[in-house]
Amino acid sequence: MAPDAAGGEPTARAVAVVPAAGRGERLGYGMPKALVPVRGTALLTHAVRGLLNAGCVRHVVVAAPPADVEVVAALLRDADLPADVVPGGADRTDSVRRAFEHAVKAVPDVRVVLVHDAARAFTPPSVIRAVVAAVASGAPAVIPVLPMADTVKQVDFDGTVLATPDRSALRVVQTPQGFATDVLTRAYAEAGDSATDDAGLVEKIGVPVATVPGHACAMKVTTPFDLAIAEAVLAGQENS
Ligand code: CTP
Ligand code: MG
Repeated sequence: MAPDAAGGEPTARAVAVVPAAGRGERLGYGMPKALVPVRGTALLTHAVRGLLNAGCVRHVVVAAPPADVEVVAALLRDADLPADVVPGGADRTDSVRRAFEHAVKAVPDVRVVLVHDAARAFTPPSVIRAVVAAVASGAPAVIPVLPMADTVKQVDFDGTVLATPDRSALRVVQTPQGFATDVLTRAYAEAGDSATDDAGLVEKIGVPVATVPGHACAMKVTTPFDLAIAEAVLAGQENS
């Protein structure tokens, strides 16, 4: 534990696992999404810099597209961002599993693990710190969430509406998701199959998942529209 930047409560130092091995097909940029530039700098570089600048991350492990491990390692080295780079897997869960296994070998005493999508490169440091602080205070699993802005419908296979779930009880989920190391180890060992987020695996082993407020800037860059938004968000951050 180290004092935080403001000299207040001690802040735990987490290890961050960054899945960045996706192909970015929906973005359609002709290269892995992690390498796509936003205002001239790769999305992954923004993401890793954001984690390291939050002041509560001691080590970063990136899962890169297997064919691009050297490219990604050089990219981060050139940006002066210390990180281990390992080959990712066939799906996101597999990529996280590989990077997490590397992380616990590299930092055996780590008690707090963050899993953070490279595609959520502009997550504010306050969100990263809130997740780490909540795990350090005893929560086994913590995710940043936002309320739903839109009404949501449940539909059948041909699109006919079946029901309107109560929006007030629904949340949109972001990253970084934070875990006590032993909980994430057990979730990956016992939950078996894939999930779209790591908290989903933790839910499957019956461990409660807490929430903290997320932030609009923690949006995931998925489509060309999102990339345009990210450019604007970053321009705003650079000018503030
Ligand atoms: N990811 C990963 N390994 C995979 C697939 C995805 O590490 N085999 C990562 C992505 O790099 C991204 C995060 O998981 O940081 C969320 O995935 P997504 O937004 O779906 O990214 P892509 O899979 O790259 O995009 P697409 O599905 O459009 O191809
Ligand atoms: Mg994908």
